[in-house]
Amino acid sequence: MHIKTDFLVIGSGIAGLSFALKAASHGKVMLVTKSNEDESNTKYAQGGIAAVWQDTDSIEKHIEDTLIAGSYLGNEKIIRMVVTEGTERVKELIELGTNFDKAENGNYDLAKEGGHSEHRILHYKDITGFEIERALLKQVRNHKNITIYDHYYAIDIITQHHLGKVVTSQTQDIKCFGAYVLNTLNNKIDTVLAKITIMATGGAGHVYSTTTNPSIATGDGIAMVYRAKGHVNDMEFVQFHPTSLYNPNEHPSFLITEAMRGFGAELKTQDGKSFMQKYDERGSLAPRDIVARAIDNELKMSGADFVYLDCRHFDRKSFIEHFPNIYNKCMSLGIDPFAKMIPVVPAQHYLCGGILVNEWAESTIQNLYAIGECACTGLHGANRLASNSLLEAVVFAHRAAEIASAKINSIDFEALIPDWDAEGTEHAEEMILITQSLKEVQQIMSNYVGIVRSELRLKRAFDRLEILYKENEALYEKTIITQKLCELRNIICIGYLIIKHAMRRKESVGLHYMVDKSLRKKK
Ligand code: FAD
Ligand code: SIN
Repeated sequence: MHIKTDFLVIGSGIAGLSFALKAASHGKVMLVTKSNEDESNTKYAQGGIAAVWQDTDSIEKHIEDTLIAGSYLGNEKIIRMVVTEGTERVKELIELGTNFDKAENGNYDLAKEGGHSEHRILHYKDITGFEIERALLKQVRNHKNITIYDHYYAIDIITQHHLGKVVTSQTQDIKCFGAYVLNTLNNKIDTVLAKITIMATGGAGHVYSTTTNPSIATGDGIAMVYRAKGHVNDMEFVQFHPTSLYNPNEHPSFLITEAMRGFGAELKTQDGKSFMQKYDERGSLAPRDIVARAIDNELKMSGADFVYLDCRHFDRKSFIEHFPNIYNKCMSLGIDPFAKMIPVVPAQHYLCGGILVNEWAESTIQNLYAIGECACTGLHGANRLASNSLLEAVVFAHRAAEIASAKINSIDFEALIPDWDAEGTEHAEEMILITQSLKEVQQIMSNYVGIVRSELRLKRAFDRLEILYKENEALYEKTIITQKLCELRNIICIGYLIIKHAMRRKESVGLHYMVDKSLRKKK
């Protein structure tokens, strides 16, 4: 089936939904999403959204905190823009119906997280993302110009390549004409022709064995753009959250928000000793890369499987008020946080790199925009400051909507796009080929390309992944498309990009830490 739309939005997290609401005043929006409409990383965000909100804070302080967290590799112009425009965008979220907690005096209750010099995190208990997703989806569902197609899986974007032309990464005018999308309810592949396509597909946590991301996070958008010869940047900067709940059989890992450390919780070894001061004078509230590395080091030295987060000294009433989700989760596992310390361990959490975009979210492919976690805007540099991700998503969704809406009437549909070519393909004989390869990639990435890396480990990961890549491409060529097969293909692609970019960056910086002595950064 051929479908035509002005705007094709791929993804229904904070980025895709925010864009859709703004663009819908200028044309028809088709919003496709591969799972249930609310399933996204956004839904699980706990800590909140950072914004300069009170007089004691300032734009300059938030800029400086963002630069420091990113080891000064962030783009200062972009950081200034996001921080300056961010407060307005957060006010819009409130106008759209998002609730954030207030203190008794009626002002917003601003939390503090690692790397922030001020209290500036607006939050809704410890389920901020759930609340934002709820409010945005309600608006989107009621908008007559937006149609949501759930269980619709975008396979690849359409470019001149599909018209039989040769496209290389040097081609100056690659154009996006829409995407091939698999309806996973009837297994038909539709050709969606769009004047403007928006990639809002989120992160890639499932490249690793242990992640806080839900199963939708397979890096599809970044892989699609890379295959279409768009530019991708900074993939070596993979953020591991220091404190996911240690519960080995639970996938994805349950997050214990950094806001708990902002509230006074302290990291301790299994014999009850605080250790963070040894690594950084900011202690448990140092930026994430430092805390995750410190925990990794403590685990390696002691041979333990986890460290503890101690909040036994918290006031019961305010703890339960602020962190009801975490409290209930711990209690369900028999951990009473006022009596026992909470076992925690780092887990993959966020991808700083992604589809390279400019300040208007334009990718290097014409009529293709990227927003949210799948984009690399220059905000994060070598490490993302806590709670800057939701902020980045709303700022860039707004900017993309402004420029795309101004351009929409000057763009025509491309009429000659062929249907998806499935000739010569057959149903997969064995699912084990896919599930086993997936586990292998995740293990390779976790063992060799995690918090701490070395040249030898990267080379080994590269060689192992190449074998899996070749096997999977051969399978892909002859197999009828399924979501699982495509996701595996994308996960292998993202793994390859992370390793390739990591190999290119010789020195340790931010989230990219090399143990080889000769490569470590000089102090
Ligand atoms: P997502 O919200 O992940 O949405 C991506 C969408 O794309 C999904 O709907 C998905 O189904 C869809 N999709 C993906 N691939 C395809 C495809 N091929 N076809 C169709 N649809 C597709 N950040 C903060 O700033 N503050 C926090 O407190 C915070 N807490 C977090 C807690 C957790 C547990 C996690 C996992 C992340 C947290 N983050 C936080 C990070 C933040 O939530 C994400 O970076 C952000 O929500 C990403 O939004 P997004 O719209 O880009 O992507
Ligand atoms: C958290 O609540 O600790 C996560 C915040 C973030 O990822 O920005």
